[in-house]
Amino acid sequence: MNIVGLDIGTNYTKATKDGRNVTVFPSIVVYGDEKDWSLKEETKKVYIGEEALTIVQSLENVEVLRPLHEGRLIHSSYLELARYALNKLNVKENFIISTGLPVKSSKREREQIVKTLESNLSTKVLIFPEPVGTLAYMGLNTGVCIDIGFGTTDVVVLSHMEYLKGDTMLIGVDKLYENLEVLVRNKIGISLTPEEMTKLLTIKDYEVGRVRSGRKISVSHDSIMRDYHELMKSWVDRISNRIKMLLEGVSTTIIENLVLTGGGSALPGVFEEFTRSFEDVGRLKKPDNPIVANSRGYYMLAKALEDELRERLEKTEEVKPEKIEKVEEKEEEKRGK
Ligand SMILES: Nc1ncnc2c1ncn2[C@@H]1O[C@H](COP(=O)(O)OP(=O)(O)OP(=O)(O)O)[C@@H](O)[C@H]1O
Ligand SMILES: [Mg+2]
Repeated sequence: MNIVGLDIGTNYTKATKDGRNVTVFPSIVVYGDEKDWSLKEETKKVYIGEEALTIVQSLENVEVLRPLHEGRLIHSSYLELARYALNKLNVKENFIISTGLPVKSSKREREQIVKTLESNLSTKVLIFPEPVGTLAYMGLNTGVCIDIGFGTTDVVVLSHMEYLKGDTMLIGVDKLYENLEVLVRNKIGISLTPEEMTKLLTIKDYEVGRVRSGRKISVSHDSIMRDYHELMKSWVDRISNRIKMLLEGVSTTIIENLVLTGGGSALPGVFEEFTRSFEDVGRLKKPDNPIVANSRGYYMLAKALEDELRERLEKTEEVKPEKIEKVEEKEEEKRGK
């Protein structure tokens, strides 16, 4: 039995079949337009991941789908991304998928995702609230985890692996990027994709250029970092204020494990800013790789459940109920004689 830890996010899909090595690709699905000519008997094609990203940047008239928008799901593209991830991992049959959804996703959405995946991929599906993956990965069954993704920030409060409370806030990295993008557009005249923005912020000496009226214009890492830091600080403030409200009244034994995860926590200065903001609450921790920690955790959760399930099955094998009944019958027969 194969286990696949699958984290389909607004910006990136993360998938692993061993709990260590994680395949990461952009969560983009593009349905190509019907072509006038079909030289390879192909009229409509689906592009996914990196290939889709290239298409988006170089072709018009394409329908672009991201599976999650503002924490809500689009089922068809969700399925395409899951299929693509399984292909990349070379997993074909006899597997279970362990995955996560935003904390405040509706029961109906969860049921539909399970149904869609199970019926189309002939698999079993386990679903957890998103940040639980990181807590499991860090070996914590009690604590608070804040997952800053691209589309949402999700929070869970767990005690002994029991869900106490949580929230999904519609303020992820997207809100920070939107503000920064407007600034860059007004100052330099370049519109940036989220993927370009990430490179610009995380890679020193990185530059993005465009041709404008026969001239080259560009924006560099150094030129936007000052504006970035200013916007980032107020963005962190907004998020942490909401989280502090959620944590009102929560026991300090739970707060001992206060974790920040998700790609947003890996942006420059973000972890430090949150640490400062939460210094009167507790010491903030982070997983070694916040982008892939959830997917590894989903894998581990399924693995733990698989062992538990197998153990239970083995125990019932040892003392089969019918065996007990037969022994009791014999005893009764003896007594009757
Ligand atoms: N090295 C990096 N590579 C890619 N993204 C990075 C990197 N460092 C920081 N990031 C940030 O992480 C973000 C993606 O985070 P993550 O993968 O957790 O989001 P998601 O799971 O797709 O979104 P959500 O959980 O809201 O659905 C990127 O948009 C970027 O801002
Ligand atoms: Mg995520």
